[in-house]
Formats: sequence, structure tokens, C-alpha cells
Amino acid sequence: MELEETHVTPWEAEAFVDYDKLVKIFGAKPLTDKEVSMLAEVAGETHSMVRRRVFYSHRDFDIFLETFKTGKRCALYTGRGPSGHTHLGHILPWIFTKWLQDRLGLELFFQMTDDEKYWHGDSGSLEEFNSLAYENILDLAALGLDPAKTHVIIDSEDIGFLYPIAIRIAKKITYSTQKATFGFTDSTNIGMIFYPVLQISVAFLPTELYQEHVMVLIPAGIDQDPYWRIARDVAPSLNYPKPTQIHNKLLPGLGIGGKMSSSKPETAIYTTDPPEIAMQKIMKSYTGGQPTAELQRKYGGNPDACPVYKMYEMLFEDNDKKLLERYHACKTGALLCGECKKELAERVARFLRDHQEKRRRAVDQVEKYLIRYKFDVPKIRR
Ligand code: TRP
Repeated sequence: MELEETHVTPWEAEAFVDYDKLVKIFGAKPLTDKEVSMLAEVAGETHSMVRRRVFYSHRDFDIFLETFKTGKRCALYTGRGPSGHTHLGHILPWIFTKWLQDRLGLELFFQMTDDEKYWHGDSGSLEEFNSLAYENILDLAALGLDPAKTHVIIDSEDIGFLYPIAIRIAKKITYSTQKATFGFTDSTNIGMIFYPVLQISVAFLPTELYQEHVMVLIPAGIDQDPYWRIARDVAPSLNYPKPTQIHNKLLPGLGIGGKMSSSKPETAIYTTDPPEIAMQKIMKSYTGGQPTAELQRKYGGNPDACPVYKMYEMLFEDNDKKLLERYHACKTGALLCGECKKELAERVARFLRDHQEKRRRAVDQVEKYLIRYKFDVPKIRR
């Protein structure tokens, strides 16, 4: 696999990449109408993110849905490296995950990798990443994830849940596989080298907790796929079902190219941004437009390469017809970037006001999400 060529590892990913090529290189399958209608059948409706192929590729998503239909136990798994406040690119898969949780009535296991972010970063104390994990839980609550069905694992504190599983996984993975899969080098610290085992462990945790084979679906960005490839390789020999995935495209940042990323805060909208600041960031955004209004009217813009349009497509315009109208208005030059940005800024500000109010109300709800208060750690001795 040509990792360098794709520019997609869990720690470095572009947003405007050739997703078709990526699916091929990674060996996943494109999401087809077949899976989309299977999902609609069990969920009772479709979701714009699958209709528009924001979630666009998968591994065994069809098998997951078949299994779900038979009534066998299934669960969701996703997570977050709490390196800062949550931005819109992070919550994109969580919005879909919540929809799946509601529609299919599934439990969600959510990993907060304060260890990963501590090992990976050049600065920041473990305490800081740990408190960010708790901050980020407020976003899960604000999005409405069900506390009775959402179980958060904070690595630095809940390792007992993962360690017995991690021990077994670690024995199956060689250093050469790690290097080839994640691009590690001799100067990578050994925390990072062990870390993938912990991210994989959670995919097998439901099976340990329920002492029965639990089929797990992981909705997550395509950049996390390397973990799941290894997870699926080792699962059969450890007698766990292979975890299944549905991958989303990464939300572009408001600059030129690149995913929305905390490394470029001026191009990212955080859930904690004051609405006025978020609006300013959007008004300053790069677009797929022409340099002047006159040229825009004449030649039209390029929505396919525009982060502002992508925000509508991926998060802020639910209505397919209106989205299509916007696309054409942009292409034909009828819609100017200023107008398009202003409308988006208003929508984003409205979302933020509401989300921030919910976050404030969630402050005393955090414990309800923590796995340690709801489950006993899996026993080694049987
Ligand atoms: N490695 C992820 C990150 O840096 C965090 C994570 C842990 C995750 N488990 C996950 C993401 C499962 C998606 C699904 O953000």
C-alpha cells in the first residue's frame, strides 16, 4: 500500500483527496444503492449523509445489517482523540452515529484517547488531554447521544476494560506490520507503537462484556481505516467477530485544501467558538469562486472544490432539492460567494447557540456516560 501517496494516515489527512482511489488502495468497498436501501429498510428512513455518500465506503456494512435483522446483538463503536475542543469535522460522524443509535436502538462504545494524544503531541500534559476528554463528552451529550446507551472509555482511566483484550491482540501484531500500516519510524516513541492495540481493543470489548459474539459497526473517518484492517486480520484467531466499518469523507477546513484541523484553528469551527467568531471565520473562508463578482457572474464558481459548499452538503443543508439548487446557482454564477457564506454563517451561528446551551445543561450529566459506572471490567479468570 502506498501510504505516502495517499496522504492519509490517522495523523495526517487531506480533505480533497481522490476518494475512489483511496477506497481501492485501502481495499474497502464503495457504498452502493444496495446498502443504502438495506439501511433505509431497517431504519425506516434514509440519512442525507448516506444518500450523498458523505459516508461513502464500507467493510461488511451489508453483513452488519443482515446480522442486525436476525436480532443478534450488535453495537456501535467510535471515538475521539481529545487534542482540543471539538470542531465540526469531529461531530460529523457523531451526528450519523446518533441517528444510527436512535433508529436501530444500539449501544455505542466511545473511546477517548487521551493517551494517544499525549504520546503523539509535542506538548501538553496528560492531565490536559484527560480534562479535554471530559470537555468533549459535553459535545456527545449536546448532540443527544443517549447516556443509557452510550459508554465512554477514557483510556488513561479505564484501561482495565481494554487491557486483557490488548494483551492478546498485541501478541498477534509484529513491528513490521505496525511500521507498514502506520508509517512509524525508528524515532516514533513506543507509546505510539503500542497505541493501535488499544484502539483495536474497543472493537472487541462488547463481545467480552456480553460474553457473546457482538457484531460491531464503526462509523468513522476514512483516516482511521488502518486500525480496522489490522483488527479484521486478527479477529478470527482471537475468536472475535470481524468489526465492520462505514467511512465518512473528511470535512474540509475553511482554507485551501486540507481537512478541518486543529492545527489550523482559523479554518476550523469549534463547538465552543462564540457564534460571532465562527461567522467571521466563515466570511473569511476560501471558496471555489472567482476573484471578482464580475468574473463570478460570467464564469460561475466551482462548488466541488469549495469548503463552503461542502459545509452545506455535509452538514448544513438537509434538503436535497435546495442543495442542488445551490449547486447550480453557484456553477452558473447566479449565486455569489459573499451571499452563500453569509447564509452559512447564520446557520452555523444558530447551530452553535443551540449546541452551546445544551453543552451547558450537560455539565452534570457527564458521569452517566462513563463506562466505569455501568459495567464491570471483563474478567480474565473465568
Ligand atoms: N484515533 C482517533 C483520533 O485520533 C480516536 C479514536 C479512537 C477513534 N477510537 C476510535 C476514532 C474509533 C474513530 C473510531 O481521533
